[in-house]
Amino acid sequence: MDFIPFLDLSRQYQKIKQELLKASEEVFEASAFSLGSRVERFEKQFASFCQVKHAVGVDNGTSAIVLALKASGISENDEVLVPANSFIATAAAVSNIGGVPVFVDCTPDTWQISPDDAMRKITSKTKAIIGVHLYGAPFDVNSILKIAEENNLIVIEDCAQAQGATYNGVSVGNFGKAGTFSFYPVKNLGAYGEAGALVTNDEEVSERVRRLRNHGSIEKYVHEEIGFNMRMDALQAAFLSVKLNHLDEWNLRRREIAAFYKSAIWNPKLNFQYVPENCHSVYHLYVVTTKDRDGFREYLNQHKIGSGLHYPIPCHLQKAFSSLGYLKGDLPNSEYLAEHCLSLPMFPELRQSEIEYIAEVINNY
Ligand SMILES: Cc1ncc(COP(=O)(O)O)c(C=O)c1O
Repeated sequence: MDFIPFLDLSRQYQKIKQELLKASEEVFEASAFSLGSRVERFEKQFASFCQVKHAVGVDNGTSAIVLALKASGISENDEVLVPANSFIATAAAVSNIGGVPVFVDCTPDTWQISPDDAMRKITSKTKAIIGVHLYGAPFDVNSILKIAEENNLIVIEDCAQAQGATYNGVSVGNFGKAGTFSFYPVKNLGAYGEAGALVTNDEEVSERVRRLRNHGSIEKYVHEEIGFNMRMDALQAAFLSVKLNHLDEWNLRRREIAAFYKSAIWNPKLNFQYVPENCHSVYHLYVVTTKDRDGFREYLNQHKIGSGLHYPIPCHLQKAFSSLGYLKGDLPNSEYLAEHCLSLPMFPELRQSEIEYIAEVINNY
């Protein structure tokens, strides 16, 4: 068996190469490289895929969060609840607009934002909650919506890892004021560079984000407010339109691989993420926990199996947030995850022989 990488994007590229080259040629021929018809086409396709009224293409997923916060009226010194067990972008976006991220622990079984801990963190300054649909699985949407309603908070869904996931049969991105997506290359729907999108059913939010992403302008050289350059790149939009046509099939394959791992790996040294029945995960990542994570990782490596770490330092203990004064022990579930998690290979082009080998090696651990 050759080395099995944690992720190999080239296998996918080889399958859709001709479609991608054709799409890029069309962009070069049209010679419109920022926003324009390719971006508009992708926005329509993506809105339809997510069953939302509006999708706005932007330059990356972090920008989408910044714009969601801005368009929701969150401003300086407002507190925003964010999960600690996640990628830093969600919390950083809050800091980028002058807000204060307040870190919420994860639950011990779903590893998603804990509604109980969110409740405990609410103060008179809290204005919003950003939930992350982590590893491709929806968070506990109903509980978070209920807390938000009772405390007059805005909900933003960070869907960066969950293109195609549904909660009670409804696509993520439909529940909050806005849903934000990243199309960073490794995502389930990944660009060949940087890209992102914001989705919303709120016309006002959509209009404001369209303006803000383009220096506060809808009409050329007329600027209604100070905005940003967070425009979507036309080449990326063209690539994403090609890839969106394959996404359901790819997500299905991810789910098959996840189901295989779940049934074939019986080693009691490993624990899996609990995904409730009403949460349809698209398995962006397949994360397990084990007591001696580093030893397990080394064992896999010796058996020619790659792995990933998502994420080794919880956000509240990152140096970047040291001024907020969190200490080790403040968010025990997130800290446990950071020390014990490991991500197994997970991408649609994994071969059956490879996942069978991975399960066998893990069972012998
Ligand atoms: C949960 C989460 N939020 C936000 C982002 C930020 O997206 P981007 O890298 O496109 O800015 C990412 C991914 O990179 C992510 O995983």
